[in-house]
Amino acid sequence: METTFKTLLVYLFIANLVVNAFDPFSTIYSYFHESCDPKWVQFNATGLQADLKSQLFGQHLASRIILKAVTGFMNNNPQKPLVLSLHGWTGTGKNFASKLIANNIYKEGMDSSFVHLFVSGLHFPDNDKVETYKSQLQHWIRGHVTNCAHSMFIFDEMDKMHPGLIDSIKPFLDYYDKLDGVSYRKAIFIFLSNAGGESITHTTLDFWKSGKDREELELEDVEIPLSLSVFNNKNSGLWHTCLIDKNLVDFFVPFLPLEFRHVVQCAMAEMKARGLSPDPDVAYKVASEFIYFPKADQVFSIKGCKTIKSKLDYYI
Ligand SMILES: Nc1ncnc2c1ncn2[C@@H]1O[C@H](COP(=O)(O)OP(=O)(O)OP(=O)(O)O)[C@@H](O)[C@H]1O
Ligand SMILES: *[C@@H]1O[C@H](CO)[C@@H](O)[C@H](O)[C@H]1NC(C)=O
Ligand SMILES: [Mg+2]
Repeated sequence: METTFKTLLVYLFIANLVVNAFDPFSTIYSYFHESCDPKWVQFNATGLQADLKSQLFGQHLASRIILKAVTGFMNNNPQKPLVLSLHGWTGTGKNFASKLIANNIYKEGMDSSFVHLFVSGLHFPDNDKVETYKSQLQHWIRGHVTNCAHSMFIFDEMDKMHPGLIDSIKPFLDYYDKLDGVSYRKAIFIFLSNAGGESITHTTLDFWKSGKDREELELEDVEIPLSLSVFNNKNSGLWHTCLIDKNLVDFFVPFLPLEFRHVVQCAMAEMKARGLSPDPDVAYKVASEFIYFPKADQVFSIKGCKTIKSKLDYYI
C-alpha cells in the first residue's frame, strides 16, 4: 500500500517536471487550440482550385470567379474586405462553395472559431427587434475582427434579411483604414441568396435550348439579366439597401441550375464520402428520383442536389 503511494508520488513528480519543461503552459495550449496565426489560418490557392474543380459540379462560372476573387484578395494587400454575393437556384452549391473556401483558408474549416455563419430566419427572425439585432451584430463583427483580422462572415438567406440590418453592416464593407481603431480590410463577407435565381435559370435554359454547350456560358450572359431582375425585385431586402449603388459588393457569383448529369455526380460523390465505392447504377437511379423542370424539357433539377443524402439512404 505504502509503496504504491510512493510510486504515485514519484509519477506525479515526474509528470510535473515534464509539464514544466514545456513552460510556459501556453505553448501546449496554443499547439492544440486554434489561434489567429499562419499555423491555423493560411490560404491554399492550389487546394481551393483543386476542390472547386473536383467537388463543385456544373458551376464553371462560380468556380472561376471564386478562385480569382479569393486568390487575388488573399495574395494582395487589400484596401477593403472581400465581399462576395452568391446567387442562384436552391441546392446548387452556394453553402457548399462557402465551405470549400473556408476549408482552404482555415485549418478547422467551417468549425473554425474565425468563421461565422448567420442565417437570417434563425438568428434575426423577429422584425420588431431589428434595432437590437443591429447593435448586437455590429458589436459581434467588431469583436470578432478585433480578435482575428482574417475573420469570415457568411450571411445566409440574405434576401430575407431586414434592410435595416444590412445597412448596419455596410460601414464594415467600405474603404476605411480603420473604424474606431479596428481594421476590417482582411475580413471576408459572403452573402448567400436565391435572389436572381430565376433570371439565371432563364438564361441557362435559353442557352440550353439554343443547343450550346453550358460551359460556353459567359459571365456577361448572366450578369445583365441578373442585375436587372435583382434591382427590380422590390421584395428582396438586399436590394433596398445601397450595397449595390455604393459598389460594396466586389463580385456577384451566379450559380447555375443543375442538370441530371450533375445530380448523378452529386450521388457518386456522396457514396464516395460515405466510404462506399461509387456505383453509377445507383447514382443514376437516385438522380431519376429527382423532379426536373420545365415540364416540357425536364432539364434542371428542382431541388438541385439538395436532398441527395436522404434519397441515397433508400438505395444503400
Ligand atoms: N454544384 C454542386 N456540386 C456538388 N455538390 C453540390 C452542388 N450543389 C449542391 N451540392 C450538394 O448538395 C448539398 C446542398 O447544397 P447547398 O446547401 O450548397 O445548396 P444552396 O445553393 O445553398 O441551396 P439553398 O439556396 O436552398 O440554400 C451540398 O451540401 C452538396 O452536398
Ligand atoms: C494545399 O492543397 C493541396 C491540394 O489539396 C495539398 O496537396 C497541399 O498539401 C496543401 N498545402 C498546404 C500547405 O496545406
Ligand atoms: Mg444554402
